[in-house]
Amino acid sequence: MKKIPVWIDTDTGVDDAVALLTALKLEQLDIVGVSAVAGNTTQENAFRNARDVLSLSGREDIKVYPGAEKPLVKELKIAPHVHGENGLGDAQIPRSNAPVETKIAYDALYEKAKELEGELVVCPIGPLTNIAIAIALHPDIINYIKVLNIMGGAAKGGNITPCAEFNIYSDPHAAENVMKSGIPVNMFGLDVTLKAYLDDDDIKEISSYGNKASDLFRNSIHLIYSVRERIGYSGLCEHDCCPLVYTAYPEMFEGHKCGIYVETQGTITQGKTVTDLWTDFKFPDRHCNFFLELDQPGFVKLIKDAYKSY
Ligand code: RIB
Ligand code: CA
Repeated sequence: MKKIPVWIDTDTGVDDAVALLTALKLEQLDIVGVSAVAGNTTQENAFRNARDVLSLSGREDIKVYPGAEKPLVKELKIAPHVHGENGLGDAQIPRSNAPVETKIAYDALYEKAKELEGELVVCPIGPLTNIAIAIALHPDIINYIKVLNIMGGAAKGGNITPCAEFNIYSDPHAAENVMKSGIPVNMFGLDVTLKAYLDDDDIKEISSYGNKASDLFRNSIHLIYSVRERIGYSGLCEHDCCPLVYTAYPEMFEGHKCGIYVETQGTITQGKTVTDLWTDFKFPDRHCNFFLELDQPGFVKLIKDAYKSY
């Protein structure tokens, strides 16, 4: 089977780590590169965490590249109350021994996309800063990225504000540039990622497998779990797994073609992904698929099977 080449751009927080560890066990995917971006945590933490998680999974062969340390325009606002001081819920894992890459993410991504001649699938699971800079510095990259499978946005509601999702809100200017670039986009917003949850029994089971990945999962989730408890929910939403699981199993998700614009100027609405999904009005360019449903039991099984296999 010809594997799908995938690049993951991550702000390596707690659910990002689950996405990395799950993606590495999806046989359809060939993770050809990872880049770090500031978001959940600092870029420095995201870079170290991505390296260490890949090392923990036995994949120090996959190169991790450092990326943007702050959004294009806004100030960086990390989320230590959710992802801890170190980005992994303050769980401690051994340092990677892989050589430290110094090439900046947006150059490394461009080179890989060009090398793969338009076959590269890019899965941003943090703010879109690196992707926007790559497009600005290397405009012809739009000819070499097959599709952007993005965790971000929300057609309805939000999490960081009543109408914006964290990744887009963190760098709305980058998101606006990416959406306007013309690169095809599959967007996995809160509308579907809030349905991509592990319930308490799933959490208990994954925490009990007795391997390094399971131990990291168990030791990293206390803060992110308590945030949901405080707002009356149980379980964990594995937002960042969605783009990766979709890339391997597109049939597990249901999406609709639409146009998406990002609000950058609003005081209340900044970071909102405005879609024409349910309006008579339709945007002139509708090069996005926006996902609303998934096979949640199948999604959970893939995560469990991945974690069991470490
Ligand atoms: O809103 C969810 C997103 O914000 C996820 O990518 C999570 O890791 C945080 O970055
Ligand atoms: Ca993330």
